[in-house]
Amino acid sequence: MGDIKKTVIVTGGAGLVGPSLIELLLPKYRVVSLDNYFTGTEKNHIEGATYIKGHIKDIAKLLANETPAIIFHLGEYSRVEQSFDDVEFVWESNVAGTFRVLEYWRKLNQSGKKCKLVYAGSSTKFADGGRGRNQSPYAWTKASNTELVNSYGEWFDLPYAITYFYNGYGPRELSEGPYASVIGRFKKQYLAGEPLTVVSPGTQRRNFTHVEDLALGLLMAGEKGRGDGYGLGSPESFTILEIANMFGGKIEMLPMRMGNRTESVIDTSRAEKEFGWKPKHTVREYIESLKHGK
Ligand SMILES: NC(=O)c1ccc[n+]([C@@H]2O[C@H](COP(=O)([O-])OP(=O)(O)OC[C@H]3O[C@@H](n4cnc5c(N)ncnc54)[C@H](O)[C@@H]3O)[C@@H](O)[C@H]2O)c1
Repeated sequence: MGDIKKTVIVTGGAGLVGPSLIELLLPKYRVVSLDNYFTGTEKNHIEGATYIKGHIKDIAKLLANETPAIIFHLGEYSRVEQSFDDVEFVWESNVAGTFRVLEYWRKLNQSGKKCKLVYAGSSTKFADGGRGRNQSPYAWTKASNTELVNSYGEWFDLPYAITYFYNGYGPRELSEGPYASVIGRFKKQYLAGEPLTVVSPGTQRRNFTHVEDLALGLLMAGEKGRGDGYGLGSPESFTILEIANMFGGKIEMLPMRMGNRTESVIDTSRAEKEFGWKPKHTVREYIESLKHGK
């Protein structure tokens, strides 16, 4: 008889990064996703995982019968500029909801069931000399949550690891609607022969990082990480105009938007040193493959 697989929970398992993580986890673990399908979609389901539909604030009720070894907490409101319009959603998910996830994690451990939390933090915390953390409702909640996770770890002696993502991109990104990502939108515009719309000034720089690289870093943090500071990002940075030019074609400039940071500071040294993590993909190759219809 084979060993019984340990259970892990992935909140936000039907979004952009979640499915790549689930693909990596499935050979080894039983995976349960909790997602409310706010930006996620059933098209992103991976065969073999169990999907529960619901808001993370209801995690204690919805996942009452689970005994996870790891909770990968990705299921939060996750858009920077749009968060000004959606501030109530942001609060419900990233403040009220995440508090419930942390309580679920605390109670598991305090009832003798060892469970590690891995938090999907945002590199916006480090942008623009640290001012990035307060530049939007989204960034504020993400930075505050990293502090709350650290404090829970200390107050209640709980195991955790905090990762920080730099601009994720990959095959499941949204290409239309208010929550589309920049590369998703460029891809759709390019393939339709339309001008690429670049938010001014276009010189804002990002370390675009493939979701498979983010997923591998998350898995390593889940299995080996301890504490704060696992930056996961590609070392190369590009401005949005440079990304648009990799596609080619006409560019149309859009007005500036609030919350749009200009620079980010990247530090992936801890993940590299402790896990040997290094990104395998480059955004240039990815864009080339999109242009050829892949
Ligand atoms: N992709 C990036 O560039 C990036 C950068 C920094 C941090 N992050 C963080 O990584 C995580 C995953 O990001 P992503 O790019 O896959 O985002 P995404 O929006 O594609 O995925 C988030 C998933 O969580 C779900 N979700 C949102 N609110 C929820 C709630 N209240 N209850 C249950 N499910 C909920 C969504 O439906 C979606 O499936 C997020 O926490 C995000 O803040 C992402």
